[in-house]
Amino acid sequence: MEILKAEFVVSNSDVGKCPAPDRHEYAFIGRSNVGKSSLINMLTNRNSLAKTAAKPGKTQLINHFLIDDNWYMVDLPGYGYARTSKSLRGQFEKLIRDYILKRENLICLFVLIDCRLEPQQIDLEFMEWLGENGVPFVMVFTKGDKLSVAQRRKNLEHYQEVMLDTWETTPIAFMTSSEKKLGREELLDYIDELNRTVEL
Ligand code: GTP
Ligand code: MG
Repeated sequence: MEILKAEFVVSNSDVGKCPAPDRHEYAFIGRSNVGKSSLINMLTNRNSLAKTAAKPGKTQLINHFLIDDNWYMVDLPGYGYARTSKSLRGQFEKLIRDYILKRENLICLFVLIDCRLEPQQIDLEFMEWLGENGVPFVMVFTKGDKLSVAQRRKNLEHYQEVMLDTWETTPIAFMTSSEKKLGREELLDYIDELNRTVEL
């Protein structure tokens, strides 16, 4: 699939005010600074559709983008950013939880994970919470350009081994780099397949 049109629709701090849930929707979540906004720009081939920053905590609202007049991509705030105040952090996390549990047209959540890091407790717990709540998700490893092909493979396998301590099978996983456009076709094809096969 190729994306021909991508436009910003609205930013929200209230799930109830998001666009009508009448189109397929895919959201990007993960720790602050993992590369959610960069991945949206990479997938849509736009340099600055979603706002990115070197410092964590850039995206603070639920941002809807309409793709090809047909489906939504959603850029979410990151979780686990230690330097926001505790109350603000609680607010973001409530916003994220509300969005995930209430958004009825959310077809799949893309959970972004920095491919360079050891499995982090916060991500493992977040995915367990998704599992407990029956939220469909896949894993997207980011910043693949920072590692060699061999190291990427090793880290991914290690991550899957750690997950198998608690999971019966591991979720689908993609390796990506927004810098090098790695994994772009695979992710877009995956979305295209869901758009065609999952009924709202
Ligand atoms: P928040 O909105 O703050 O939660 O962050 P985010 O997850 O949206 O991250 P963002 O896309 O803003 O990227 C954070 C930083 O990582 C920026 O400096 C990006 O340039 C960098 N970055 C993102 N993706 C990649 C990648 O694939 N490769 C490399 N080398 N850097 C990346
Ligand atoms: Mg962001």
